[in-house]
Amino acid sequence: SHVRPNDRLGRPLGVLRLSLTARCNLACPYCLPDGKEPPGLLTLEQRLGVIGAAVNLGARSLRLTGGEPLLHGGLEELIAAVQPLRATHPERPGLREIALTSNGLLLTAERAQLLRAAGLDRITLSLDGTTAGSVARMTGLADTAAGERALAAVLAAIEHARAAGFDPARGALKLNAVIHRGANDDQVLPLAALARERGLELRLIEFMDVGSRNGWQSEAVLSAAEMLEQIGSSWPLEPLGRTAHATASRWRYQDGRGSLAVVASVSAPFCGDCNRLRVTADGVAYSCLFAAPGSGLDLKPWLKEESSAAELKLAIAALWNQRSDRYSEERNTTKSANSKHAEMAYLGG
Ligand code: GTP
Ligand code: 5AD
Ligand code: SF4
Repeated sequence: SHVRPNDRLGRPLGVLRLSLTARCNLACPYCLPDGKEPPGLLTLEQRLGVIGAAVNLGARSLRLTGGEPLLHGGLEELIAAVQPLRATHPERPGLREIALTSNGLLLTAERAQLLRAAGLDRITLSLDGTTAGSVARMTGLADTAAGERALAAVLAAIEHARAAGFDPARGALKLNAVIHRGANDDQVLPLAALARERGLELRLIEFMDVGSRNGWQSEAVLSAAEMLEQIGSSWPLEPLGRTAHATASRWRYQDGRGSLAVVASVSAPFCGDCNRLRVTADGVAYSCLFAAPGSGLDLKPWLKEESSAAELKLAIAALWNQRSDRYSEERNTTKSANSKHAEMAYLGG
């Protein structure tokens, strides 16, 4: 049967965010990967099992994450292998899109073409500054020379992705920027200008209290309202709103030159219709980005060779049925704000 289970707050499962590795080639202080890969990474077959079960339970979107997913050599093979899971009919279960979140450093022209040929629909690249200094600071690189190289690599990656067919005008290529007050809040306007010039939607992200290694304090959050005010005073904006289940609230430039978005998880939480299931590189399922470390459901018992797809589906359905997470909505009102969180690079954002 193709019943989509709802969680305890009536939210359907809609997106699978699958992390392929906890490793990264950067050390952004707001994420701070520890460089360790969990033992027992899933095989391609096991990943296909997880994706198939999620799709059966209603997932329409697959987002591949890390750490840095381009470090995973099997990325293209995985993307090609999930193509049969695409919906063949609007009323049927099945994937509508396959997306990737990457820092872009490893996105060569060839890699972009391979990803497109394998069947990837959308890429979101991260860029937190427009100067060598700000990029170095936001990515944990040692000096401005390294920052300069990283900046050049991401700007090249944007063009490689565009050339490979990821069309920003159709939402297939976007830019993420985490803004940390006191670190890169002077980059909001320059980043907006850079994205506008290239026809990309910039998504300005409030610094979140994910993990326990990034030293998060509420004082370090530049609110979406403040970011929008900075940009709106140069280029007036009009709200487009937040579509159902989305993280981002979108705005259009009144001069017609594209759009901008904010991910306001701290100042304007969007748990109310959160439809995202996360599965780590070692096969542990988490129903919230802010879950406690070790609290996920290890799917490996249902991913052994002799296991059945039906049992895996039941295990995920049970997890989803029990789900009542709404951390970001509770952050400001309960003590859970002081609780421990699993790390970003492990959960995949
Ligand atoms: P689109 O499908 O293109 O809208 O992508 P997305 O925004 O869902 O994913 P992306 O990986 O680009 O994430 C953008 C930002 O939103 C990152 O900072 C993520 O950590 C954050 N994010 C993604 N999903 C959630 C969520 O469920 N809750 C919270 N609080 N933040 C999220
Ligand atoms: N707060 C907000 N966004 C974050 N990201 C990583 N850590 C944080 C954080 N603490 C972003 C990355 C990437 C996405 C997967 O999550 O920059 O765009
Ligand atoms: Fe979803 Fe948890 Fe993020 Fe709320 S805090 S939007 S429930 S992942």
